[in-house]
Amino acid sequence: MTKSESKQKLLAKKPGSIAGVVSIPGDKSISHRAIILSMLAQGRTRIHNILDSSDTNKSLNAAINLGIECKKKDGCMEIRGKGLYGLKDPGQELFFGNSGTSMRLFMGVLAAQKFSSTLSGDSSLNSRPMERVAVPLRKMGARIEMENDHAPIQIYPSDQIIGTKQRLNVPSAQVKSAVLLAALYANSKTVLSTSSVTRNHTELMLESFGCDIRHNEQEIILEQGELKGINALTIPGDFSSASFLILASLIAKDSQIIIKNVGLNPTRIGFLKILQMMGGKITTTIDPNNSYEIQGTIKVKSSELHGINVPSNLIPRSIDELPLVFLAAACAKGTTTIRNATELRFKESDRITAMATLLSQLSIDVKEFNDGLTINGGVMSGGEIDSFGDHRIAMTALIASACSKADILVHNTENIDTSFPNFVGIMNQLGMDIIDPEC
Ligand code: S3P
Repeated sequence: MTKSESKQKLLAKKPGSIAGVVSIPGDKSISHRAIILSMLAQGRTRIHNILDSSDTNKSLNAAINLGIECKKKDGCMEIRGKGLYGLKDPGQELFFGNSGTSMRLFMGVLAAQKFSSTLSGDSSLNSRPMERVAVPLRKMGARIEMENDHAPIQIYPSDQIIGTKQRLNVPSAQVKSAVLLAALYANSKTVLSTSSVTRNHTELMLESFGCDIRHNEQEIILEQGELKGINALTIPGDFSSASFLILASLIAKDSQIIIKNVGLNPTRIGFLKILQMMGGKITTTIDPNNSYEIQGTIKVKSSELHGINVPSNLIPRSIDELPLVFLAAACAKGTTTIRNATELRFKESDRITAMATLLSQLSIDVKEFNDGLTINGGVMSGGEIDSFGDHRIAMTALIASACSKADILVHNTENIDTSFPNFVGIMNQLGMDIIDPEC
């Protein structure tokens, strides 16, 4: 979408200090998994603090189209699963909008059904790579067709999903999760090894639903079998959404915030490690009564950041926060290098080019490589930015106002709703000054 076609824009004015104590809406990745596993389980699951966003609603709609009753009740989402073999033919194309997680995880489920399905998304999702999911599923006997690596995707019933031993070379939790979901239907156990550590929410939640799964950072072994509904499943606050608050309070003057009930899964919090290496004053406290996911409190204070070489083992653990790492680098003293991040080119936008463009427009010296950026920290001007239709780029651009010299106008911001619908409200409550310039 071009600037002139953009439906919504937001203006971020330079804020004073950022302060307060907040909780963050539920984690997007974990909410998708909660919907899908509740749908496949036998019996009712009640999900507390589920994220209500346009992305998670795509998973919910798909579950409803597959014949599953999902309703809001007593402040939680109640899903009545019908077991692995209880889904019905939707009789229509399943539309996943902008949600890559929904499409890829549902591919794993639908590959094992006795009916055919068609999956499609918006223009951004229909241009993202999907063969990476189809390839390991086909090794399990799935019948999946698409043109040119892109949705629309056609899935046909297969005779049998086969238990396989596979190594997954794409560093993607979505690929791993699709394979694990198909593996629930396999005729024997599935053994997966992975090339790098990615978020393990599917493994942890499968365990909670009673699946026979053993996993560590290198290997996962899953025995096929039914899942059991959970009476109360609570979704922790989304660490990726919290990251916008964390960086805003680090780079704004005289700021201090506390974020409660936020997910602190070690496979997700590489961003905290990177910021701490850059001099960020951040502490975490883990809640005593953790269940399937670790959650706790994060405290952040304004800090003088300095440039670093970001270690490559932290890249998959901070994959969604790398636009914010680029922004932190722009506000830091000295040079920061982020490489081995080619995966960023396959997100809701090409986030390497998007961030190189954004930072250059804000007068920051950036060098782009195929797999990352080198950024020389400097004085950031204000400016007018396009989000490339990407929620995380839009929010990163708005946060930049916490250390820019002047206001930042961001075009094409409607996609913020895919992951963090109350972003503007929460940021302004903490002291940011983000407005709709047309109101
Ligand atoms: C996600 C995995 C990551 C991440 C995405 C959510 C998930 O994608 O970028 O926002 O919920 O599994 P990849 O699996 O493509 O790395």
